[in-house]
Amino acid sequence: MTAERTIPVNLGERSYAVRVGAGLLRKLTPETLGARDVRTVAVISEKHVAELYAAGVLEALRSAGASARLLTFPAGEQHKTLATYAKLMDELLGGGPPIDRRTLVVALGGGVTGDLAGFVAATALRGLRWAQCPTTLLADVDASVGGKTAVDHPAGKNLVGAFHQPAGVLIDVETLRTLPARELRSGLAECVKHAVIRDADLLGFLERRAEALLACAPGEMIELVARNVAIKAAVVAADETEHGERAHLNFGHTIGHAIETFAGYGQITHGEAVALGMTAANHVAVARGMLDAAAAKRVGAALERLGLPTRHDALDADEIWRIMQHDKKNVGGKVRMILARAMGQVEIFDDLSPDEVRQAVASLR
Ligand SMILES: NC(=O)c1ccc[n+]([C@@H]2O[C@H](COP(=O)([O-])OP(=O)(O)OC[C@H]3O[C@@H](n4cnc5c(N)ncnc54)[C@H](O)[C@@H]3O)[C@@H](O)[C@H]2O)c1
Ligand SMILES: [Zn+2]
Repeated sequence: MTAERTIPVNLGERSYAVRVGAGLLRKLTPETLGARDVRTVAVISEKHVAELYAAGVLEALRSAGASARLLTFPAGEQHKTLATYAKLMDELLGGGPPIDRRTLVVALGGGVTGDLAGFVAATALRGLRWAQCPTTLLADVDASVGGKTAVDHPAGKNLVGAFHQPAGVLIDVETLRTLPARELRSGLAECVKHAVIRDADLLGFLERRAEALLACAPGEMIELVARNVAIKAAVVAADETEHGERAHLNFGHTIGHAIETFAGYGQITHGEAVALGMTAANHVAVARGMLDAAAAKRVGAALERLGLPTRHDALDADEIWRIMQHDKKNVGGKVRMILARAMGQVEIFDDLSPDEVRQAVASLR
């Protein structure tokens, strides 16, 4: 069961492969990262992840004949900024071996590192090749597929960025063993999201294998990551630049983001907020008569088994609605929400009323 898996992301000439396995970082080469004819590699990582994994990655790249160097920045969303971007760019263009078309940028870390390093790669010399080696479950199953790169701006999250597809993605599930349990659970919330929007079988897998997944058993992790990458890849391949069904990936996120903002960033994890957001969205769908109460209950039970919250006693429904109205994903001033009809089947709605949202949020108490 621990065999390696390769999932194609089909985007025409921007296609690439996502490789998932255990122990892949130790044997990584530019080729396994999807890039040929590489002379220099710039590995971008945050200090915490770099301490754990950078030495092995640099050694593997050098033994593959590439001249590799490491660029680091301090860990945390608060450093996903234009200032950090500028510093990394100065280092990339200033010191070390010259950067040219044969340079590969490698992002080693969670979603923050992927977004930042990807944006550096998207803009250095008007676009360098890059590869991702994600080290959080959230980055494995979500951020590593789709080519969205960005930094935050005082005016909002991810407001400065670009679409820039990587040459390849290499996921070593062994890195999840050092990930704090709360971060692991945060990634599991995105897996439940994928199950609800596309794959009822995946929900069954999450229910049956919850314990092994929480313990990071490699076989189950490879299976989980591969299935989720395949779902995200299919959604992205159908709608690369988010004009249509890629919006399904926002299931649980409209109310979830508002809860994240309400609680204050860092107070609850993104995944915890999404778990609450999915629970509230299902409440709306049940109230509309479009989703079975039993299905909503099943999702709630699965979230709880995976150690995720479905209740929060301090939410102010009016305030959450107010925050939701400022979401940048809204279209034409309307609040857009994704609602489930059944497990694996969702639809986009633009007609949410303040009352149904308030009631759904109140139901979380
Ligand atoms: N580009 C996309 O499509 C996309 C999709 C979803 C999220 N994102 C972005 O991803 C970011 C969140 O990603 P994240 O949750 O991975 O956050 P993160 O990168 O900050 O990592 C979370 C924490 O885990 C630590 N960490 C990472 N890997 C570790 C490991 N293997 N062992 C021990 N500790 C480790 C980090 O130091 C950090 O403290 C947000 O900025 C979000 O906007 C992007
Ligand atoms: Zn998310």
